[in-house]
Amino acid sequence: MRLRAARPAAVRAFAAQAKKQAPRMSASVTVATGLTSAAVLAYTQMDQVHCDWLSWLGFGGSVKKDEFADIRAEIAKIIGDNAAGPIFVRLAWHAAGTYDINTSTGGSNGATMRFAPECNHGANAGLGLARKLLEPVKAAHPEISYADLWTLAGVVAIEVAGGPKVGWHSGRTDAASGESCPPDGRLPDASKTQDHIRNVFYRMGFNDQEIVALLGAHTLGECHRDRSGYVGPWTRDPHGFDNSYFTLLLDEKWQVKAGMPLQFEDKTGDLMMLPADLALVVDPEFRKYVELYAKDGNKFNQDFAKAFEKLLHLGVPTKKN
Ligand code: HEM
Repeated sequence: MRLRAARPAAVRAFAAQAKKQAPRMSASVTVATGLTSAAVLAYTQMDQVHCDWLSWLGFGGSVKKDEFADIRAEIAKIIGDNAAGPIFVRLAWHAAGTYDINTSTGGSNGATMRFAPECNHGANAGLGLARKLLEPVKAAHPEISYADLWTLAGVVAIEVAGGPKVGWHSGRTDAASGESCPPDGRLPDASKTQDHIRNVFYRMGFNDQEIVALLGAHTLGECHRDRSGYVGPWTRDPHGFDNSYFTLLLDEKWQVKAGMPLQFEDKTGDLMMLPADLALVVDPEFRKYVELYAKDGNKFNQDFAKAFEKLLHLGVPTKKN
């Protein structure tokens, strides 16, 4: 398949901003040895209800402003070493995309995906990998909350891929348990189309243009059989951020791909679209914006940056840093 690999030069340039060296793994040992036996016991007992080792500790809150440059550089290095940009964007989006504007529940604040039942929601399959890859950064900077770390990782991933700078501020705190996990079913179902997509994104407070801009993130990454059941990338450069998702949506003749679940492929069979992606060209209101972004990549970058920033700050307390 003629796909381009991750972008080492972009990653190197980004990581060059680092003032410090790579993640200090020893910090995790310090945290672990600092636990009292009571805490260790509590940890063991909590094993049934959380997903990520030590993550229930949920420190966070007082990162020094200049430390964020180091954190960003460490994230960029992990992205470069593991081609993890797309999955970091998906982690940030799934953490935030559970928000309900009417009840002010869900959203990135709380990092509740560390806990069951949310970590076991079908839509989050595979995201344990992304959370694990970020653990060394958390260990080296225990003051950052997981909720801030995951959303910042999404922002860095967009930039490393050559996408726009996305505004971001800290201030998220980590929930202590899974009690505030949002109910299952708040994230979109890829087998469904425009009505479902609108229900999900209107619930977060987005309009049609913002929805189309956000779905442009499928310029990155791919589907994995063992995570979602779907397979394949949307574009030929799954580690580069551009408007090719929109040009492909319009220019290719998408045919049903053999096998289940239902998805679509281009004439080469290399690229794919989900039923939810194709809804953007079938629905006339959505299609207007697909055409706009296919023509104007700069406009897409600007609108994506605004919509992604909005997504990552839904329900987040006022700016701290
Ligand atoms: C209707 C809305 C959406 C649906 C139905 C949807 C569905 C999916 C599915 C099924 C996958 C494949 C997961 C896997 O198998 O690894 C995926 C991956 C991905 N999604 Fe979405 N998504 C939607 C919206 C978004 C939004 C709003 C963003 C970000 C702003 C996003 C970013 C990504 C990225 C970057 C990947 C690739 C992950 C990787 O390569 O590991 N998606 N999406």
